[in-house]
Amino acid sequence: MTGIQEALLSRRTVYRFKEDEVENSILDVAFKAAMHAPNHKKTNPWRYYVLGVSARTLLLPEVERLSRSKMLGQSVNDIESGLKRAVSKIMSPPVLIAVSSALTPSDSFREMEDYAATACSIQNFCLSLWGNGIGTQWSTGAITRADSTYEALGIPKDREQIVGFLKAGYPETLPEKEKLDVEDFRTYLP
Ligand SMILES: Cc1cc2nc3c(=O)[nH]c(=O)nc-3n(C[C@H](O)[C@H](O)[C@H](O)COP(=O)(O)O)c2cc1C
Repeated sequence: MTGIQEALLSRRTVYRFKEDEVENSILDVAFKAAMHAPNHKKTNPWRYYVLGVSARTLLLPEVERLSRSKMLGQSVNDIESGLKRAVSKIMSPPVLIAVSSALTPSDSFREMEDYAATACSIQNFCLSLWGNGIGTQWSTGAITRADSTYEALGIPKDREQIVGFLKAGYPETLPEKEKLDVEDFRTYLP
């Protein structure tokens, strides 16, 4: 198997990270890979916002609000531990990045192609990190879509859509995933 195929098949979404820092030099290599994604019309529609502690802290009031609204009716103890988990999902990943893609309200096809290019860029980024032993999780939870998140991070909602948060770090555990067989999705037409 080639190195690329090996990386493609072995990459898994990682949900639990070690506390070890990810060196900026490794992130920079991954950003370079992200920049080399295929991109029709060369619009470079992706933006990566790496969130430090202060930026993450600004998200916490909304994290808490969203979390409480999901746990209505639960016991005080369950709510307390649910809140802790929700805060930890934002504060504990060694790397947390909001990724946005350019909006083009006047051209929905351009916007769709730009979203596709941004997804390619994210995959390049994640695979580059994977090649250096670092796992990622792409997340589209409610906090990634809240208006207050755009305000807190200074992302202009009229020009960019946040397509997700990327969490990254050295994997604590590697989940296994069932995948389809090739025959389930591939059709050769005559
Ligand atoms: C657009 C997109 C959004 C995702 N959002 C979430 C999410 O909100 N929470 C989560 O746990 N995983 C999320 N994932 C990761 C998927 O759950 C994961 O890719 C899937 O389970 C397959 O596992 P694998 O990446 O290890 O192959 C997302 C993946 C993509 C591509």
